[in-house]
Amino acid sequence: MHVLVVGGAGYIGSTTAAHFLAAGHHVTIYDNLSRGHLAAIPQEAAFVQGDAGNRAALDILFQTNHFDAVVHFAAYIEAGESMQLPGKYFHNNVVNSQVLFDAMLTHGVKRLVFSSTAAVYASKNAPLDEGDALGPTNVYGETKLMIETMIRWYQRQAGLDFAILRYFNACGAMLNGNGQAIRGEAHQPETHLIPLTLQVPLGQRESIKIFGDDYPTTDGTCVRDYVHVEDLASAHVLALAAMDDRHAMTYNIGNGQGYSVKQVIDVTRDVTGHAIPSETVERRPGDSAVLVASAERINDELGWMPRYPTLNSIIASAWTWHQSHPNGYKDE
Ligand SMILES: NC(=O)c1ccc[n+]([C@@H]2O[C@H](COP(=O)([O-])OP(=O)(O)OC[C@H]3O[C@@H](n4cnc5c(N)ncnc54)[C@H](O)[C@@H]3O)[C@@H](O)[C@H]2O)c1
Repeated sequence: MHVLVVGGAGYIGSTTAAHFLAAGHHVTIYDNLSRGHLAAIPQEAAFVQGDAGNRAALDILFQTNHFDAVVHFAAYIEAGESMQLPGKYFHNNVVNSQVLFDAMLTHGVKRLVFSSTAAVYASKNAPLDEGDALGPTNVYGETKLMIETMIRWYQRQAGLDFAILRYFNACGAMLNGNGQAIRGEAHQPETHLIPLTLQVPLGQRESIKIFGDDYPTTDGTCVRDYVHVEDLASAHVLALAAMDDRHAMTYNIGNGQGYSVKQVIDVTRDVTGHAIPSETVERRPGDSAVLVASAERINDELGWMPRYPTLNSIIASAWTWHQSHPNGYKDE
């Protein structure tokens, strides 16, 4: 199939593009490079620079290519910033997605895989399944829920087939057969716990901030489900393959195991062998206490299984990436 990967110069999109190529698909990446990196794009993929909200550019793209499916990663992703600048998130995530979906449908492309998030759920002290209560605690999560709602209506009214994949916390790096890191997390700015924690052993920060230790969890810090980026990527390949038979899929992608912020810091200490001082500060607006996935549905229906389920293996791959790319893709 010819797959259009929107936002494919980013962390998860570039890794997923590499997995689509390995599965024998033809890939075109469309990204405005506002957050992505040219060096992350797999060499075998075609690349077009453009914005998901630019209808004229999308019309040319769809007129000059025949795409079988769109995989849509493009978004702003910082929950904290979304609470300060909600309009920035409603515009880039919701409005621009709507422009993209209309362009797809106008040009007869009716298969969509969409990057959603655990942030659409209300916090729960047990693994979340897809039927659990929704209740975003931040604007970012709300934008993803709004896009999900839009997609379900497009399915009913316009025949858009979809796979909505709700990722829990993406992390880790893609290594080649020689164990070298070829693709990894390089958000600018970085707000994710594992890369920020690894900046301490890299000598780039003195300590790691813990945002609140009075949550209703075992050690008072927030609990999340950390899932390797290559395991996320493989879920996209399976979802696309399933679209011949399934027209409306919603799946959680996570390991089913929660780790607190303090536990992540402890494992990072073990993996790197470095001291990692931490400093507890005020809670950050918009953080849920606990978000852990049940991925039983995608396991049962598509046979998805994580290949890197342990936090040790995830952090070890991230550490390999950050040691060889201490300044992200700027080192290439
Ligand atoms: N990283 C996570 O832990 C996580 C968890 C849940 C869901 N997600 C979702 O997965 C997707 C990818 O996340 P990521 O971590 O790879 O982020 P990222 O910032 O690395 O990648 C996003 C990409 O989209 C591009 N982009 C943004 N707005 C665009 C626009 N208007 N037009 C064209 N390109 C645009 C950016 O340049 C970037 O390359 C996002 O939709 C995010 O909400 C991520």
